[in-house]
Amino acid sequence: MRALTVLAGLAFSVLVACTALPAPAAAPEALAPTLPAIAQAEGAQSVASPDGRLQVTLSDEGGTPRWSATFAGEEILRPGRLGFRFLEAGNLEAGLVITGAETRSVDTEWEQPWGEQRLMREHYNELLVRLSDPVDSARYFDVRVRVFDDGLGFRYEVPQLTADGAISIIDELTEFAIDDHDTAWWIEAGNYNRYEYIYHTTDAAAVDRAHTPMTVRTNKGTHITFHEAALVDYAGMWLDQQRPGVFKASLVPWSDGVRVKKDGAFITPWRTVQVSADAKGLLNSDLILNLNEPNKLGDVSWVEPGRYVGIWWCMHIAKCTWGSGDSHGATTERTKEYIDFAAKYGFDGVLVEGWNIGWDGDWFNNGALFSFTKPYPDFDIEEITRYGAEKGVRLIGHNETSGNVTNYEAQLEDAFALYEKLGIRQVKTGYVADGGGIQRQDEDGVWRYEWHDGQFMARHHLHVVEEAAKYHVSINAHEPIKDTGLRRTYPNWISREGARGQEYNAWGYPHLNPPEHETILPWTRMMSGPMDFTPGIFDLTGRPDGPNRVQTTLAKQLALYVVLYSPIQMAADLPENYEARPEALEFITRVPTDWEQSLAIAGQVGEYVAYARQEREGRDWFVGAVTDENGRTVTLDTSWLEPDTAYTAKVWADGPAADWETAPYDLSIYTQPIRQGDPFTLTLAPGGGAAVWLTPAETAEGAE
Ligand code: NOJ
Ligand code: CA
Repeated sequence: MRALTVLAGLAFSVLVACTALPAPAAAPEALAPTLPAIAQAEGAQSVASPDGRLQVTLSDEGGTPRWSATFAGEEILRPGRLGFRFLEAGNLEAGLVITGAETRSVDTEWEQPWGEQRLMREHYNELLVRLSDPVDSARYFDVRVRVFDDGLGFRYEVPQLTADGAISIIDELTEFAIDDHDTAWWIEAGNYNRYEYIYHTTDAAAVDRAHTPMTVRTNKGTHITFHEAALVDYAGMWLDQQRPGVFKASLVPWSDGVRVKKDGAFITPWRTVQVSADAKGLLNSDLILNLNEPNKLGDVSWVEPGRYVGIWWCMHIAKCTWGSGDSHGATTERTKEYIDFAAKYGFDGVLVEGWNIGWDGDWFNNGALFSFTKPYPDFDIEEITRYGAEKGVRLIGHNETSGNVTNYEAQLEDAFALYEKLGIRQVKTGYVADGGGIQRQDEDGVWRYEWHDGQFMARHHLHVVEEAAKYHVSINAHEPIKDTGLRRTYPNWISREGARGQEYNAWGYPHLNPPEHETILPWTRMMSGPMDFTPGIFDLTGRPDGPNRVQTTLAKQLALYVVLYSPIQMAADLPENYEARPEALEFITRVPTDWEQSLAIAGQVGEYVAYARQEREGRDWFVGAVTDENGRTVTLDTSWLEPDTAYTAKVWADGPAADWETAPYDLSIYTQPIRQGDPFTLTLAPGGGAAVWLTPAETAEGAE
């Protein structure tokens, strides 16, 4: 949970308070085949958060392992099942009793190399419970629960259950049992468009099978997000509503129907529940990162947050092509123009798509044809990177695989070695293929089709990230597996897509994102981590052939740089559209992408949201606020500003006539003095927003 003043000024110290306990949890890869002994216990076991408000209980009534949770006295999770069904071993689902339990507490701090918040506080109480078969004590699993003030996570730790260690999970039985009258924000899982859906707002009862993060609001106003953390060598979890209100873990299957394949003892990802008494509090949760392992890469000073432009929107609005020919986008000449533009306005990189052999013809279905080292003849990659280096702008690589992972993995090392040699520090990957259409060739040469979020792709993405790290390359995956906080462990996993981004606005009707889209994203997709949404469209007219107008105002496009966090932010439009509106472009050239601290300061899911973020190594603050299709005036609290300091706020807001539908370009730019505690009022148009840059006034009048 983010608390502004608690961390500020504290030395970077580690305080670990243990209550008579054995060694802390082993790192996943170090897990021994036989788990350590555990103190004997029987009957239901409970653990509460450090502030006592959130409580989790594990029970074994009738031999069925279950878990439940309360928050501030409200039963937020009714007893839900725990357990597994296996192919090679008996199931661990019934006839189990609690035989052991241990607790400990941790209060520590850690620092992010880059991020939305530099200092992180990791403060939780932990309960480890063993559920055993009374007839055969070697058949058991442990559940490790960590309860923070902002949420809880639990994972299974399962010993080796078969003689040779091989074990296949046929089903994980975890249930999240909520009230089916809750309001839910969700997208469908296991469907062709991966994570790229418009969010539904319904009664929980109407949810079918959903992706996580899924967020609900109870009738008491409590906001809860269900997700997972540290998805390593395991299948992603969909939530399948079975009985009303009972959401069962549905692990994404392999092409042979098995959900997860393991060898010996294993741990699962953390099953997470983030909780807050109000909507904005949920956005300030750090639970997902706190449940991940620390940085494994050591010095990551080569991982570079920053702003970029790209030869990209021009393909999406059909003004140029990925493939070769007269309209080829990725030419040496055009790339140099983009480098010039980037250098002039302080962008760090230029993404170029369609630079490599393989795009001609039906690229969606021809993934095997892609080369990740051979440029088209009209793209002189050596000359381009030389020119970029001269101008202080890096080329950003692009690896579209069309879902053919076998073709990509075969070229990974050669590709990353080449990119490192050319000074390319970042690669955007892509997996354009229908859900369930990832292609891999198995050991017998047979082509198999996998999901984007099954165990195969969990392994693949981490493999790419680890290989890339060897060559000092950071990865921004599109059509990815969902984020589960692994950027803490692998800080070169710098961003990803994994939701419906700006590209849908390029394609026009019926793909356009509705005005409420960006007011739901913070409480759903963004609960998992940074998103490469690609904000900053300045020409909002859309394609000329239909009702294709982008459904935001210009001010809202600016506000998205603050609202939708990513350490790399694109200015997605064409250079000429930026040069036509220099007064609006100024905000994009100033807004940082790396933050000292971040706070959600107002909002209701699907209505509006406002964030304040302070830049790293600086005192300036930035505010972004966006609304849905309804215009509104919001008065923001400013307790987060430094005391006794006079700030000047420069505001890019919707003008008096602004409306996404009728007057999207009506932009008011003004300055106003402001101090801590002053109410700060912003007027947002229908489909609108506001972007603000607050800087301490130079004069000494600030001190009182
Ligand atoms: C989909 C990605 O989201 C988009 O950014 C990219 O341009 C295309 N795939 C082509 O790779
Ligand atoms: Ca996409």
